[in-house]
Amino acid sequence: MSRPPSAFKASPFAQLAELIAGLTPAMAPIDLSVGEPRHGVPAFVGPALQAALAGFGRYPATRGTDEFHAAAAAWLDRRFGLGGRLDPDRGVIVLNGSREGLFSAALEARRRFPEKTAPAILLPNPFYAVYAAGAEVAGAEAVAVSGDGDLPDLDKLAPEVLQRTIAVYYASPTNPQGAVASLERWQSVIRLARRHGFMIFADECYSEIHRGTPPAGALEAAVAMGGGFERVVAFNSLSKRSNLPGLRVGFAAGDPDFIAGWGAARNVYSPQVPGPAQAVAISAFADEVHVAENRRLYDEKFAAAERILAGRFGYRTPAGGFFLWLDVGPAGGADAARRLWAEAGVKVVPGAFLSVPDADGLNPGGRYIRIAMVETLERTEEALTRLVGVLA
Ligand SMILES: Cc1ncc(COP(=O)(O)O)c(C=O)c1O
Repeated sequence: MSRPPSAFKASPFAQLAELIAGLTPAMAPIDLSVGEPRHGVPAFVGPALQAALAGFGRYPATRGTDEFHAAAAAWLDRRFGLGGRLDPDRGVIVLNGSREGLFSAALEARRRFPEKTAPAILLPNPFYAVYAAGAEVAGAEAVAVSGDGDLPDLDKLAPEVLQRTIAVYYASPTNPQGAVASLERWQSVIRLARRHGFMIFADECYSEIHRGTPPAGALEAAVAMGGGFERVVAFNSLSKRSNLPGLRVGFAAGDPDFIAGWGAARNVYSPQVPGPAQAVAISAFADEVHVAENRRLYDEKFAAAERILAGRFGYRTPAGGFFLWLDVGPAGGADAARRLWAEAGVKVVPGAFLSVPDADGLNPGGRYIRIAMVETLERTEEALTRLVGVLA
C-alpha cells in the first residue's frame, strides 16, 4: 500500500524563500508573510522584567510557577466564564510559546493511547505547519480535513478513521481564514472526541484578535456541557494577544489527567520557560487595555482592506485573526506571490504552502494567498493598493 504524501513539509517561509529566490523586487519591500505581531511591546513589560531579574539565576521548574498557573487560570476563567472549574494547579501548564506545546502534545497523545494501532491525528486543511510535524514525529498518520465554511468537517470522516484517531488539532480563530467555531461547534467536536476516545488540541492563540465578538473557546464549551475538561486541552499564548512573540510564553489548560502525564514527560524533555518571562506574562494577563488597543489597530486595517479590496479576490473581513485569505484565481497563489514580490515588493505566502491536496487531488489552498495584517496602517494600505495594481 502506498503511503499518502507527508503533510510535514518544509516551513512555509523556507518554501517561499525558494519560490522568490533570484527575483529582484521593483519597489521597496513590504513583508506581510509572517504572522508576527508588530504593534509594539506593551509599556508594562520593561518594569515587570526588571522586577523579576533575579529569576535568571535559577533553573525554572518545567511546569511553571504557581503564580503563573494562578494568573493563566484566572484569565481563562474571566475570559471564558469557567465558573472556577479550572484547577490552576492540575489544569494549567506553561509552554515555551504554544508552538512547542502543540508539537509535544502529539507525542503525549501517542503515549496515552498505545492500544490504538495505526494511529491518526486530524488536522485542518490548510493548517499551522507544526500540527503535521507533531503527527509525523509521533508516528501517527496526519489526516488533513478541509472545511465546511472554513472549519474542518469532522463528521464526514469514516468511523474507522475516528476509532484510530488519537488527537485532533482544531483551531479557532483559524489561521489563515480567520473562521471562528461557535460554542455548538466546539460541543460537537467534544462529543465526537469523547465518543471515539481521542484528545482535542484546541489552538486558540488568536482568540483575542477578533472584530468585536469574542470567539467561544473549547474549555467554555466543556463547561457549558456540564462536565469537566475530559479530552479537552486548549492552547493559548501571549504572542498575538499582547504583541509578545519574542517572549515565548504560551500555556495549555484543561484535562488534568492528560496534563499530569504530559507534565511528567515534559519534565524530562521540554524547554523550560524562564521565570522572568513568566512574570512578564502575569502582568500581561492583568491588563486588557493593550489588548483592546491592539484590536482597534487591526480593525482599522481591516476597514482599509474592505475599502481597497471589496468585490475582489472573494474578500470578506474575517471574524477573527489577523490574516487576509484571498482567492487569486486559477493561476494560483504561487504565481501571484512571485508576481507580487517581483513587481510590487509585497511578500505574501501562497496558500498551497499551508495545505496539502485533498483526497480528490485538489489543494484547497491552491488558489489563495495569505496576507498578515501586521504592518502599520499606512504600509498596509500601500501594500494592498500595490496588490490591486498587480493582480486585479
Ligand atoms: C495557528 C497558530 N497556532 C500557534 C502559533 C504559535 O504561536 P506561539 O508559539 O508564538 O505561541 C501560531 C503562530 O503563528 C499560529 O499561527
